[in-house]
Amino acid sequence: MTAVAQSEPLRITVRAAAKINLCLGVGPARDDGFHALDTVYQAVSLYDDVTVAEASQWSLVVESVGGVDVAGVPTDETNLAIRAGKLLAEHHGLSGATAEIRIAKGIPVAGGMAGGSADAAAALVALDRLWDLGTPDQELLALAARLGSDVPFALIGGTARGSGRGEIVDPVEDLASWWWVVVPHGIGLSTPEVFRRFDEFGTGPTRPKILSESLLAALATGEPLTLAKAVANDLEPPAFDLRPDLADTAEALAKADALTTLLSGSGPTMLGLAENQQHAHLIRERMMESGYAAWVATGPVAGCHLVEIA
Ligand code: C5P
Repeated sequence: MTAVAQSEPLRITVRAAAKINLCLGVGPARDDGFHALDTVYQAVSLYDDVTVAEASQWSLVVESVGGVDVAGVPTDETNLAIRAGKLLAEHHGLSGATAEIRIAKGIPVAGGMAGGSADAAAALVALDRLWDLGTPDQELLALAARLGSDVPFALIGGTARGSGRGEIVDPVEDLASWWWVVVPHGIGLSTPEVFRRFDEFGTGPTRPKILSESLLAALATGEPLTLAKAVANDLEPPAFDLRPDLADTAEALAKADALTTLLSGSGPTMLGLAENQQHAHLIRERMMESGYAAWVATGPVAGCHLVEIA
């Protein structure tokens, strides 16, 4: 008879998707320094997998999936996934609870696709399960909002309108499948810096609500050419000012036949909208021939979900 092996600690893996902003309307800075936003988020098929297990202290490792450059990801306690774990523990009065976290990263880093927020959301869901807490959804959403403006959306995924500073999320029916070509950039852009440059430009007459309303009307048609006319991002002028080369990426996407181009969140990742899956792959090939890294992603996809218990 063989001896029963000492069982490995329980490991729970939760998958979280990247987000893009189909439109991002930015209002003036509020008293707390954040900007009022009216945005439509969409979760797209680039993923981080976050695996957690019991451990006697916090630790975090990050590995790259599909060539994502993970050099800039902090692995100490400033990482948003550990901060999420500590916040969840504190919320339940478990001050000494710790865990090891492993992130398999397929979302571009500091690219405006909310990879760090995805990790925080996935860590909340995974640790809630690991510690058997059963935190109600509304409480998880409130904790997520404390971690960052787009962490609540990372929990719910799909397509949603975002308001407040982005943390108030209302799901939107979105029955089509949209196809995007994602062009990351080797050097990240700091979100606060882009918002600061936005302020320096002066907001002028604001139109955040109008952008979201026309976007939602376009989305309901299910027509890529109609959507192409409605996408808009108020952070494009400041981001392009900080990174003039982004205009070249947009031009290359347009030359490669994208229906339209769009900055993802605060950048620097650029998006090209395609007519369908085949068209997206064609645009990607053309971008790669021109020397750009490019991926195909579709949306909407699900928010945080459990993929493995081992
Ligand atoms: O909420 P989050 O931590 O993602 O925000 C990062 C930074 O982006 C903020 O510190 C702020 O400088 C800027 N920001 C903003 N207005 C928002 C969201 C973010 O000015 N609505």
